[in-house]
Amino acid sequence: MRRNLSLLAVTAASAVLALSLGGVANAGIELTKHNMSSGGTDSTIRSVTGGTGTDEICIFCHTPHMNVTKGDVLPLWNHRLSSGAGSYTMYKSATFNGADNYGVLQSVTLGSPSDPADLVAGNMSVTNLCLSCHDGTQAVNAMFNTPNRLNANPAMQGGSGAGSAYIPASSNAYLGTDLQNDHPVNFTYSVSRSISDETLRMEGVGVVQYGGETVRLFNGTVQCASCHNPHADYVTNTEFTPFLRVTIVGSKLCLTCHDK
Ligand code: HEC
Ligand code: HEC
Ligand code: HEC
Ligand code: HEC
Repeated sequence: MRRNLSLLAVTAASAVLALSLGGVANAGIELTKHNMSSGGTDSTIRSVTGGTGTDEICIFCHTPHMNVTKGDVLPLWNHRLSSGAGSYTMYKSATFNGADNYGVLQSVTLGSPSDPADLVAGNMSVTNLCLSCHDGTQAVNAMFNTPNRLNANPAMQGGSGAGSAYIPASSNAYLGTDLQNDHPVNFTYSVSRSISDETLRMEGVGVVQYGGETVRLFNGTVQCASCHNPHADYVTNTEFTPFLRVTIVGSKLCLTCHDK
């Protein structure tokens, strides 16, 4: 009961913060599925409580001090990349305008780097960061720099595979390595726009904006995080479920880029 009360207090506090930010879902990762710490309440996969667990939230994805060479695209990235993925099957369609060889069956590529140094400038792959958990080939607790107080990856519960630490194939959150049936990612937005029949909005610097809404481009490219904000508090602001930058209500998200 005490626990529930304090959760309510946190929710209320976040709601006030969200209001003061004008409804932009920025704060409040602690309430979401991306809180994989022992204090997480939304993710089925989370750290155990006690000595071998951790109550740190950011550490599953970021560390203040990286102990490996840093690729230019990484926001102090701490989660081990998917070396076991081999390769990804990418989106392909006869009408897709994302590659500059228009006229043949279109597709884009995405590498499977095992080391952050593989993610060099010009090979922007924020998508690889997401897939390092969501392709299901890497444990969610596999870190470059483990918690200082543990000196080991935190023990997990609720997942599948070794250490109950993998996103199971049965989960909604599992994408696997076949991305053919997912919205295309890792291609240049301006290229698509210039060869499309003018049905994409004009981009700004690092963004596409329409009707007061904003989605992000990374080095000019469309990535998972163009549509998703991995920190968005969709628990308080349910219209941003699941981790969306713009609500899917009325397909607002889609209409931010597509002039349809
Ligand atoms: C589940 C993974 C995950 C967790 C947990 C996470 N982040 Fe991130 N974060 C990302 C990804 C992926 C990016 C790069 C994409 C982007 O900018 O949206 C990022 C980007 C950032 C950035 C730089 C860009 C920006 O949006 O400002 C900051 C700062 C940041 N995170 C801080 C934090 C802090 C602080 C925490 C803990 C309270 C945290 N993150 C927890 C995945 C995560
Ligand atoms: C460190 C591991 C990790 C990283 C990195 C990560 N996620 Fe997740 N994500 C998870 C876990 C674990 C869940 C919840 C799984 C569950 O509860 O079954 C989740 C849930 C989600 C969900 C909600 C799924 C649902 O069913 O409601 C979305 C959407 C999502 N993540 C998108 C992203 C995107 C986009 C990125 C990159 C910007 C990212 N994630 C990076 C671990 C991660
Ligand atoms: C063009 C925008 C867009 C891009 C790019 C995108 N997503 Fe999503 N994603 C969505 C939307 C919208 C939903 C919610 C679908 C719904 O409610 O019907 C979603 C749902 C999800 C879910 C929950 C599963 C489900 O079926 O509801 C996960 C996990 C996820 N995305 C991860 C990712 C990852 C990882 C990437 C990159 C490989 C990615 N997304 C790229 C828009 C996008
Ligand atoms: C960040 C901007 C952005 C957002 C947001 C976005 N898209 Fe896209 N989408 C693109 C770009 C760029 C392309 C590649 C250009 C093209 O082929 O039309 C594309 C391609 C597509 C395609 C494939 C077209 C083809 O010919 O194969 C479909 C379908 C699509 N988007 C639907 C959606 C839907 C539905 C949503 C909302 C859930 C959405 N998009 C959100 C930028 C975006």
